[in-house]
Amino acid sequence: MTDPFAERASLQADQRIAKQVAFNMRRALGEDQTEEIDRLAAAFDFEAARGFYWNPPEFSFLWGTPLWDQASEDQRRSLNHIYWAAYYAQITSAEIATIFFNQIAAAGLYGAGNDFRPLCDTLDLETRQERAHINAFRTVGEKVERALFGARLFTYAMRGPYAETMVFGPAGSLKRWWRSAQIRAFAAFAPDRPTLAAHYLMIRGIRTLNGKMIQERLAKHIEAFQGYENAPIPARISKAHYTDESYHFNTSRIMSHEVPKLLPAADALERMAINRAVDGCQLDHTPFSVAINGIFWHDPALYEACLTLFRSPTFGMDEREAREMLRRCFTEESEGFHASATSHHTAVDNYRAYVEKTELLTPANREMRRMSASDLASRLRVNKAAYQRRFAH
Ligand SMILES: [Fe+2]
Ligand SMILES: [Fe+2]
Repeated sequence: MTDPFAERASLQADQRIAKQVAFNMRRALGEDQTEEIDRLAAAFDFEAARGFYWNPPEFSFLWGTPLWDQASEDQRRSLNHIYWAAYYAQITSAEIATIFFNQIAAAGLYGAGNDFRPLCDTLDLETRQERAHINAFRTVGEKVERALFGARLFTYAMRGPYAETMVFGPAGSLKRWWRSAQIRAFAAFAPDRPTLAAHYLMIRGIRTLNGKMIQERLAKHIEAFQGYENAPIPARISKAHYTDESYHFNTSRIMSHEVPKLLPAADALERMAINRAVDGCQLDHTPFSVAINGIFWHDPALYEACLTLFRSPTFGMDEREAREMLRRCFTEESEGFHASATSHHTAVDNYRAYVEKTELLTPANREMRRMSASDLASRLRVNKAAYQRRFAH
């Protein structure tokens, strides 16, 4: 006899999925880094940390370019710190959006099952953790920029979830408007469409994969010091953040690969929305940047910030020298450019493997065709054309 009270989907009905959710939540809570991250952020002192590398040297701003080659040891350390500030400024932007979407997804999932509360509690924990992450990234990033430039270069004032996610992306104002319209539509529909809500976690999973790839290397940097307590605070934040994020990644995988099995199949509208979102993600991740390995920024959007950086007391160039350095770094092939291209290729491979079994995706999305069309030659072409436009008289 069927249970007259079982009108909705049930997590407990599939013990394999229920156990994965419970295990992930238990481990995430046990290793929760929120307090540690808050403590590190409150204790951060730029002067105490500035004598050390915060990331492995190859994760420095404009590493492997003519700027890096001619930089003094002090300047290289500053480029290493600037990488940290800029890298996590992008992560901050993505996490502001994540907080919002986690809450929408939790609202959508909560009513879809009789017992979906553990899914929602997991998303709540992660939302709370992201706020601590953002606080730490902003605290360190702003102190770096205040000390080095007395102004913002890569950080920005706190903002809302509808802002453009890519801090230095190629999107014009129309694209930005369209993106924000799509987010608003998702927010309006998803609470009522649990299948859509669960698949948001697939997009989050793709974006997290990219972070995972780089942050694993940043987190390992503490091993270069004798003991955790001796590592500079930003390196310790990288480590603690990576611990939290590895559970977020598990959550994304469970929710997007397993939970939909408990829900109605996606209808035509939902399939379209999900494909649109993956395509948007590909679009965001099409460029790769010589300045910052592992963040898919549109280099020309960085030109003004780099001119300011080159002319700052750290590098002390005049206008002509700064322009020439910009040309050499952004429009010529270099070891740094090759390293960024390699990270981009790895990301494409990882994204493909991640969505491989998601049947509702179009072949163009499953194979990440848009992203994989991007290569070193095309990036150099884009950068050169933009340089000529910027400095044409
Ligand atoms: Fe985070
Ligand atoms: Fe996260």
